[in-house]
Amino acid sequence: MIKYQCFGIVLLCLIVLAKSKTSNSKQQNVRSFPDGFLFGTATASYQVEGGWNEDGKTENIWDHRTHLNPSPIKDQSTGDIAADSYHLYKRDVEMMRELGLDFYRFSLSWTRILPTGFPDKINEAGVEYYNNLINEMLKYNIEPVVTLYHWDLPQKFQELGGWTNPFIIDWYTDFARVVFETFGDRVKYWITINEPREICYQGYGAASLAPGYNYSGVADYMCAKHLLLAHAKTYHMYDQKYRPKYGGNIFITLSAMWYEPANENEIEAASDANQFQWALYAHPIFSRVGDYPPVIKEKIAAKSAEQGFTRSRLPEFTPEEVEYIQGTSDFFGLNHYSTYYVVRNESVKGMYEVPSFFDDMDVIIYQLPDWKIGESNFTMYVPWGFYNLLTQIREDYDNPVVFITENGFATRGGLDDDDRVTYYKYYLNAMLDAIDDGSNIIAYTAWSIMDNFEWSLGYTERFGLYEVDYNSPERTRTPRKSAFLYKEILRTRTLDLEYEPDTNVMDIDEGH
Ligand code: BGC
Repeated sequence: MIKYQCFGIVLLCLIVLAKSKTSNSKQQNVRSFPDGFLFGTATASYQVEGGWNEDGKTENIWDHRTHLNPSPIKDQSTGDIAADSYHLYKRDVEMMRELGLDFYRFSLSWTRILPTGFPDKINEAGVEYYNNLINEMLKYNIEPVVTLYHWDLPQKFQELGGWTNPFIIDWYTDFARVVFETFGDRVKYWITINEPREICYQGYGAASLAPGYNYSGVADYMCAKHLLLAHAKTYHMYDQKYRPKYGGNIFITLSAMWYEPANENEIEAASDANQFQWALYAHPIFSRVGDYPPVIKEKIAAKSAEQGFTRSRLPEFTPEEVEYIQGTSDFFGLNHYSTYYVVRNESVKGMYEVPSFFDDMDVIIYQLPDWKIGESNFTMYVPWGFYNLLTQIREDYDNPVVFITENGFATRGGLDDDDRVTYYKYYLNAMLDAIDDGSNIIAYTAWSIMDNFEWSLGYTERFGLYEVDYNSPERTRTPRKSAFLYKEILRTRTLDLEYEPDTNVMDIDEGH
């Protein structure tokens, strides 16, 4: 597990902070978004749908994990009902219209569509649910952006090893084929997989997400290889078979925090942190040469040899596989929430389990208490980190087209979410700075349209523009102040840093 530490170097950090805030020099109070820029919000199936065993849906790894006794979830909650979007999708679309969204990103529950996980049986009720949702959105010109896999693997496949079993490449591609055949005529934006790092490291290494394995330095790397190949196979299938017919886009979403050197001696350490934490997945797809970043291959091979392993714990790709994965994403799908400082010093020795992902990375990461705004320390507020990350992506990967698929702020609830308002304003401002510098960013997605099941943290952390009342059987959704801010940004297509949201009535503007 990550161990957080903060040293008494606040002064030093402030100097670095000032240096990194290059973006602020350009600050204006009202700024425009580029023509054609798209705005949306996002959710994921397990986090909002509920209906966990309804109409033929079978168990997935999150049903399984949340039903364990004792429960590993902070408040012992489950997603059995969650925000009940399985029944309330019309209200969800109404909220999208209230906000004036261009698109809505949601994910498909694999076992709702394929109860055995395989395409031998298609669950008509599951298909109907997604058809209803998609058609309701299209009625109001809201573009569906659909994630095929946002963490809810069929439990049966987990029992066979999940993402550590190479057969997953075919299982996943077979599921994708059914999905493209069924919804491909209407969906033009496909995201293959949400956040490989969280699936592999947190799921198979740190035991903090389903399936909850604690086998870091081995299982997380096996997962990474199969996941990248499954993604690439599905990309090629869409590209060759469905794109000519439907003309859509297909891409992957990576999570990336920003890792900033704590001082000028830590540039290499921070660079290693960025490589391990997200370039592990970005480099094979977006770099000119493909494959894992050389520094990762070298470090893990060297440590593995020292530790007495016969071969590197990071399973290699063949040259054919390197080529097969390279270039398999139309956009760089990016989820970003916060920033860490990085140092590498003597105290890193013995700090992590051996072997493990963190021991291989060999750095210490930490955040500053000053970055906390509001009650939660889940999403520490560091807008300049977002700017630095976007700059790095532009520089490292030949300015790819970036689709921001998640960004958002956690609170502990309540409608007056002024801290979330601040977060959105200044993260969007940092994004506009990157655009001014030439970053090719085409879309922004707020996580989330409404409160939902926040994985291991249950319902204790709230990310919604709309609050969900979990005590009401209707799961009543009420707009927060940030919903009014987002609506105004979308209406005017500008960002006014002075704007104070007027929270009177949330209605639907003409055209939506
Ligand atoms: C995930 C979401 C999650 C959010 C906030 C992302 O890692 O894709 O499912 O709710 O972060 O933790």
